[in-house]
Amino acid sequence: MSEQKSEVESPFSLKQAFEGKFVIGAAVNEHHISSEADNLLLTQHYNTLTPENMMKWEEIHPTPTQFSFARPDDLVSFAELNNMQVVGHTLVWHSQTPDWVFHREDGSRKSREELLLLMKNHIDTVAGRYKNRLYGWDVVNEAFNEDGSLRQSLWYEIIGEDFIEKAFEYAHEAAPKAKLYYNDYNLFKPAKREGVVSLVKRLQSKGIKIDGVGMQAHYSLEHPDLKEVEDSIKAFSLLGVDVMLTELDISVLPFPDENNMGADVGLSIALQDEFNPYSDSLPSNIQKELANRYQSLFAIVNRHSDKISRVTFWGLHDGHSWRNDWPMPGRKDYPLLFGHDKGLKDFARQLPFAEDK
Ligand code: XIL
Repeated sequence: MSEQKSEVESPFSLKQAFEGKFVIGAAVNEHHISSEADNLLLTQHYNTLTPENMMKWEEIHPTPTQFSFARPDDLVSFAELNNMQVVGHTLVWHSQTPDWVFHREDGSRKSREELLLLMKNHIDTVAGRYKNRLYGWDVVNEAFNEDGSLRQSLWYEIIGEDFIEKAFEYAHEAAPKAKLYYNDYNLFKPAKREGVVSLVKRLQSKGIKIDGVGMQAHYSLEHPDLKEVEDSIKAFSLLGVDVMLTELDISVLPFPDENNMGADVGLSIALQDEFNPYSDSLPSNIQKELANRYQSLFAIVNRHSDKISRVTFWGLHDGHSWRNDWPMPGRKDYPLLFGHDKGLKDFARQLPFAEDK
């Protein structure tokens, strides 16, 4: 309550704090769009929105003959009413994609031609529907392994490595004005960075439109080494494309599987209390660590704001963050700028943290 009161007395706005640098956004779901309180937070602080789940294949195109546009339409209308950009997420991904996309009714795998036709139809219908209304699209999500090779997804196995090129071509045909992005996690890793750099160069050399690279930025207090994040921002920017932090959150919790840090949504580890140390509240020393970590990250982001076009947080407030359930369901995490009480955290009022730390 007191948090909300001070908000009224001295209105602070994230989007104003970053004005002239880059747009600032949040991933949202249908509850945010229908909640008046959340609407107020969104319009006060953000100028770009990303649908957290509702434009993923399994939600927007759940069966071969059914498209579910009601929720995405509401989100896009809300954004237009409030002069916000929307970035669609995502057209081609191995996850949250129904099995019928890849397999025939008898269980056999579809052919390259069948899958390409379906991909084209999906992109035409979804990207085409919003063609002058969405600012951009995460056209392909998470196509790379950690070593920079291509992930052995069903997209890759059935179509071959040109599935990425085809997706970008189809997206450009369906929505010629939309910015087209490649998006992935752990892009700070040098090998994975190199894989994406090669992809962008290949598309560019073939004259296929690609406008940017989204670094998901699911981080923690310890990982990654921010120097590597900075190196990737520079490397992608040298390609002449936009660089974005697209899914920023900083987990304060211990990571239960050191070998699988990142954001593989398929990872799920049974809840253990020792990995859920702040189930009541966050101790002040850890709050301070979170503040310092955000400050160090934004020192880099500010230094390269000429290369960065957007920073989007993956969620609006801690209570709704996916980090409470990934990679271990049922924990209490504190990764965003707005807390479980939906109040802006004190340190966030100092944004954009203009001074280098
Ligand atoms: C997550 C959502 O936040 C969850 O609600 C959902 O259950 C799983 O997916 N990388 C991505 C996002 O590109 O789409 C994922 O979002 C998080 C990791």
